[in-house]
Amino acid sequence: MSLVAGPGRGGVADDQLPDELKLVIDKHVAYIQSLDSRRNELEYHLTEHLRISGIYWGLTALHLLGRPDVLPREGVIDFVLSCLHENGGFGAAPGHDPHMLYTVSAVQILAMVDGFAELEKKIPDGKTIIAKYIAGLQQPNGTFAGDEWGETDTRFLYGALNALSLLNMLHHQQPEQSPLINVTAATDHIKACHNFDGGFGVMPGAESHSGQIFTCLGALSITGELDSYLGEEGKDRLGAWLSERQLDDSGGLNGRPMKLVDVCYAWWVGTSLAMIDRLHWIDKKKLTAFILRCQDPEQGGVADRPGDMVDVFHTHFAVAGLSLIGYPGVLEVDPAYCMPKHLVDKVLGR
Ligand code: FPP
Ligand code: ZN
Repeated sequence: MSLVAGPGRGGVADDQLPDELKLVIDKHVAYIQSLDSRRNELEYHLTEHLRISGIYWGLTALHLLGRPDVLPREGVIDFVLSCLHENGGFGAAPGHDPHMLYTVSAVQILAMVDGFAELEKKIPDGKTIIAKYIAGLQQPNGTFAGDEWGETDTRFLYGALNALSLLNMLHHQQPEQSPLINVTAATDHIKACHNFDGGFGVMPGAESHSGQIFTCLGALSITGELDSYLGEEGKDRLGAWLSERQLDDSGGLNGRPMKLVDVCYAWWVGTSLAMIDRLHWIDKKKLTAFILRCQDPEQGGVADRPGDMVDVFHTHFAVAGLSLIGYPGVLEVDPAYCMPKHLVDKVLGR
């Protein structure tokens, strides 16, 4: 287990990069810490619809940067529980409608701060109630809706498997012996989203997209089917498509052909390559330099592209991307869960 800052995990050592390109860890920690104290700023209110996911992004980045205690644990748990609805779903902030994506963020946060005991204390059977909300969003064709309005997307399917496994309820049998969800129907749906170019789209027949590829590989990885389903030939084809996402001039990655590079694709593409053991097919040094150029070296935080405004979403995925590459001082991330690997290992008993 690689928990400490050091020379990196076989990745790009920062002494190979120009001096001005260093990860400004303390600035990023201060930036994330400052987000909660900016309640009188417009941006705070404009991002309320994302609040609980914002906490997941900020907290994960802090963990990976070796500063897990910067956000107060009790305050985090209180906030998360204040977003829980009676039906077991979480909204983005208190009073917001429940949705799969915010429920996944809530479960990920509770898993990271070891907060399931507090959940059960406040709401007996809380884990089961949450799991039933998630399971109730599965559709007859195996996929999942995001909420009661029924829009489906591989993001929601992946999120369901992520959260149910963290709750230890993926293969849970109900008292009448019927499983909570149909895992086979879910993975069959993922396989139906597989395209001839090796990638996956948002639904069967839809164009390959790196974000959706992450969700499909993550889902197959969580259910343990990734290696047997793709095989070496499938990994080669997908690896070729994914490695073409790196652009020569900037070293950054895009999500699809003809699109702009964006730092968050260091995660969506990078971890997809990691899950199929082909991360070495891209130039890690050039990607590292691109990510570091997206930093705000004075105020902290990372933007989608050099010179743009920073935000916590791109800060998180930049740090997670650097973790995949083995950047010195960044802890190891779990490629399927996008959480610190040692915590996922602990929760799953691996
Ligand atoms: C790109 O989106 C990314 C995706 C489609 C994948 C999103 C996955 C989730 C929300 C699941 C939860 C994720 C984690 C890490 C636990 P985009 O809208 O930026 O795409 P665009 O670049 O084409 O606009
Ligand atoms: Zn982005």
